Amino acid sequence: MTSKRKLLVVLHVLTSVSGVGAVLAELLVLAGAVSQTDPAGQDAALRFAEQVVYSVGIPLLTVGVVVGVLSALTSPWGLFKHTWVLKKLLLTLVNLAVPVLVVGPRVTEVADGSLAAWLVFGGLGVQLLLFVLATVLSVYKPKGRVGAGNRPATRDRAPALSHP
Ligand code: HEM
Repeated sequence: MTSKRKLLVVLHVLTSVSGVGAVLAELLVLAGAVSQTDPAGQDAALRFAEQVVYSVGIPLLTVGVVVGVLSALTSPWGLFKHTWVLKKLLLTLVNLAVPVLVVGPRVTEVADGSLAAWLVFGGLGVQLLLFVLATVLSVYKPKGRVGAGNRPATRDRAPALSHP
């Protein structure tokens, strides 16, 4: 692995895995907000959680996608060669869509209505699951090449493809 590629992987792991911290922080602040009895304190906590979603969570995921795609394109893995890379891209795009479309717009409403609370806490749970799946795929890199379904299975097993 070249030193430039190593640097990109370091940046990629830092930006993508840090997203887990952002989701955990959002969960913690929201749990505190829901149990607050003082309306002003509750409002401040909800605004803070909203800031974490928009200023930390979404930017980290966006950078994670960009640096992930760059890592794929500049490594022998490629972007459209191996199914684990494409699966990670799909999982991460869904992971980005959850805070943009579900969590962010409702985060300040969790204390008002049960539907908003279910959507926000459920969305954050889904995000954590997606982070875990992406990390597992990254580390195990299961064999399987894009389009290999049309070819004999033996071609999938070339050992040189497992660790470029
Ligand atoms: C939250 C999402 C993601 C997480 C947690 C994550 C995590 C990781 C980790 C831990 C590694 C290092 C694995 C190793 O070196 O053994 C890695 C490598 C890699 N990731 Fe991601 N990743 C994410 C998103 C993406 C995306 C969106 C892509 C692009 C499609 C991507 C493509 C890659 C590639 C190609 C490598 C190998 C880089 C190389 O060996 O040069 N990742 N990822």
